[in-house]
Amino acid sequence: MSEFPIGVFDSGVGGLSVLNALREELPHERFVYFADTGHAPYGERGDAYVAERSRAVALYLLDRHRIKALVVACNTATAAAIHELRADHPALPLVGVEPALKPAVATSRTGRIAVIATRVTLESRKFEALHASLAAQADFRIVPCDGLAGAIERSDHREIAALSQRYLNAAGTFGSAPGQIDTLVLGCTHYPFIATELRRHAGDVVRFIDTGAPVAQQTRRLLSQAGQLAETGGGAVVLVCSAAPDALDAAAARWLTRPADRVTTAIASTATIA
Ligand code: DGL
Repeated sequence: MSEFPIGVFDSGVGGLSVLNALREELPHERFVYFADTGHAPYGERGDAYVAERSRAVALYLLDRHRIKALVVACNTATAAAIHELRADHPALPLVGVEPALKPAVATSRTGRIAVIATRVTLESRKFEALHASLAAQADFRIVPCDGLAGAIERSDHREIAALSQRYLNAAGTFGSAPGQIDTLVLGCTHYPFIATELRRHAGDVVRFIDTGAPVAQQTRRLLSQAGQLAETGGGAVVLVCSAAPDALDAAAARWLTRPADRVTTAIASTATIA
């Protein structure tokens, strides 16, 4: 089974940031990346909708691509559906992502931390429990960023700039002095791609925390435990999406650290996924 691919999915192009980290950590693995672009963004939809999409995408990846493991490269889908996915596929190595609050607490000196993510993620029970477990250790400024992932999907630079400014202003004052926010948690996998824009508002001293590398390390651990780690081979990558592939194609050309082997759309090939 070690030669089968790892499935990776997100509502759209954001999970490419996690795919970059996975390819770095696991150079011999094959990956099938599914962008649910026909239904993106997930972040302002209801939980039930996101859970239903996540389950359909997981089934598609298992049936059509025979994946040996699944990485949910989306904080929103993890918050809404990771429990269902684990229940549906108890034997499948499964890795989700969540806003990295714990590493932020460990790194912050001022004890003031901003967390930006989608509304579905931040209003989920999973996030509330995580926040409650750490609330005594830091002052978290939690800001739902409606529209930001969508603007990144569309590469709408003007909107990205306006929303970044609005949401970081809402978080408070950034800097390293007492009382200032010195750590910014990127709680959506789309946001690492706009780090330069975010830094224009947060400044140079603020530490940005995303989850690509730890997710990749956890994937390696699970595959190794299951005896399914690929140790030879070139690590081909196929990108699949549920709408016309142009946006994914353009995002991959811009953001993947190494090119993918193929970009394709699943619309015509399966009724359940479109
Ligand atoms: N990239 C996603 C996340 O990490 C979701 C963005 C969206 O679809 O709203 O939450």
